[in-house]
Amino acid sequence: MVPAAGTGMRVGGDLPKQYHLLAGRPMIRHAIEALCASPRIQRVFVVLAERDEIWERFDWTELGVKLSVLRCGGATRADSVLNGLEAVSAVVKADDWVLVHDAARPCLSTAQLDALIEQVGEDEVGGILAAPVADTLKLSTPGRRIERTVSREHLWQAQTPQMFRHGLLREALSRSRIVTDEAGAVEALGRHPLLVASDASNLKVTYPADLVLAEKILLEGKGA
Ligand code: CTP
Ligand code: MG
Repeated sequence: MVPAAGTGMRVGGDLPKQYHLLAGRPMIRHAIEALCASPRIQRVFVVLAERDEIWERFDWTELGVKLSVLRCGGATRADSVLNGLEAVSAVVKADDWVLVHDAARPCLSTAQLDALIEQVGEDEVGGILAAPVADTLKLSTPGRRIERTVSREHLWQAQTPQMFRHGLLREALSRSRIVTDEAGAVEALGRHPLLVASDASNLKVTYPADLVLAEKILLEGKGA
């Protein structure tokens, strides 16, 4: 499931960022390509804003019959995902796996996707792609001075896809929607999702500078 109902405020521009062209194709097209190409994924649902008029401007037929559009985007990312999960509940069973992947992560590689699916396997809880934190981290005072250095041991940057069973994720999101990722909602149920090591190439496009980096990664061939 690919939430794509945001407006991309921080990137700016005339179109929502998921339609920004990277290497000649809309960002979201790159984001869903690996999903549509994977034999392990049966269906790909894109969650659009109800009034999205841009999706139709592009030809999606090349991605095949797995792809469907749901026009049920909500006010937040969590709302969009929950609306999507509810919209597909007639065709997706409670114990079916759902991978939620941001339209704004265009550089997901087949190797990263396969690692997630293989390592989560039949896990009780589910899991997410994440990159070990590499930077030196500082905790600031309110006056923006360094209070202290925070150890990066055991710290990870969450990415997507995030893989959970439909029933568990639906329950988790309907209980706590003030979360910025699916894992956060599952954690709030007291569960501990698995971290599957990824790397910085699966970046999220958040600011204009990320567009340049994402395009470079796409043109050079996706990461490991
Ligand atoms: N998203 C969504 N519904 C929303 C908000 C976000 O489906 N109401 C999606 C975005 O389209 C994106 C993903 O969630 O694919 C990650 O969100 P983010 O990077 O924050 O995108 P935007 O919300 O569009 O960007 P911004 O926060 O800068 O406005
Ligand atoms: Mg946002």
